[in-house]
Amino acid sequence: MKNIVILISGGGSNMAALVRAAECEQWGTRYGAKIAVVLSNKAEAKGLEFARSQGIATAVLDHKAYASREAFDAALADAIGAYDRPGQPALVLLAGFMRILTPAFVERFAGRLINIHPSLLPAFTGLHTHQRAIEAGCKFAGATVHRVTTELDHGSILEQAVVPVLPNDSPAALAARVLTQEHLIYRRAVVRLLQGN
Ligand code: GAR
Repeated sequence: MKNIVILISGGGSNMAALVRAAECEQWGTRYGAKIAVVLSNKAEAKGLEFARSQGIATAVLDHKAYASREAFDAALADAIGAYDRPGQPALVLLAGFMRILTPAFVERFAGRLINIHPSLLPAFTGLHTHQRAIEAGCKFAGATVHRVTTELDHGSILEQAVVPVLPNDSPAALAARVLTQEHLIYRRAVVRLLQGN
């Protein structure tokens, strides 16, 4: 069984969509894959409650408890490494994980580290993507699932979804519209990876 490890920092709606898809679509029997653990850098992350309610293991690694970014990432890598099996490296999904990862971490999980970002990359890397898209006068916004490389919000694009920016949109309204699409494209990207495409 291939383990899937999901990293969150907050609400965890993308994680929840993946958990529901894995259950409904029987990823275990179809793809030999299992969402094994949800890790958070924040104990108060709402998504943890959902994961626990689904019988999924959870763990919290509070980044503030570590002296450096490198020390936190090393501990995180160890926690994830526990889910690697011989010949079956875990798939590591960042789902609203709001930490910039060190090159050492990214290199350790290279090729199996995936992120979802709330913009149409390569536009609007970083934070406040919806506000920036509105301010720039964009007529469309969206989300991107991509491989993680050492350069923030770069890496090859696996899936994208586009939504309209409506007149008088607020960042929150646009974010909610984008989020519904995120749930669809993250599932699609992961299924393709599990299918080996
Ligand atoms: C999502 O919009 C995700 O794309 C974004 O955080 C939100 C998390 O929502 N991620 C980033 O901004 C990463 N830079 P969720 O916790 O409900 O999945």
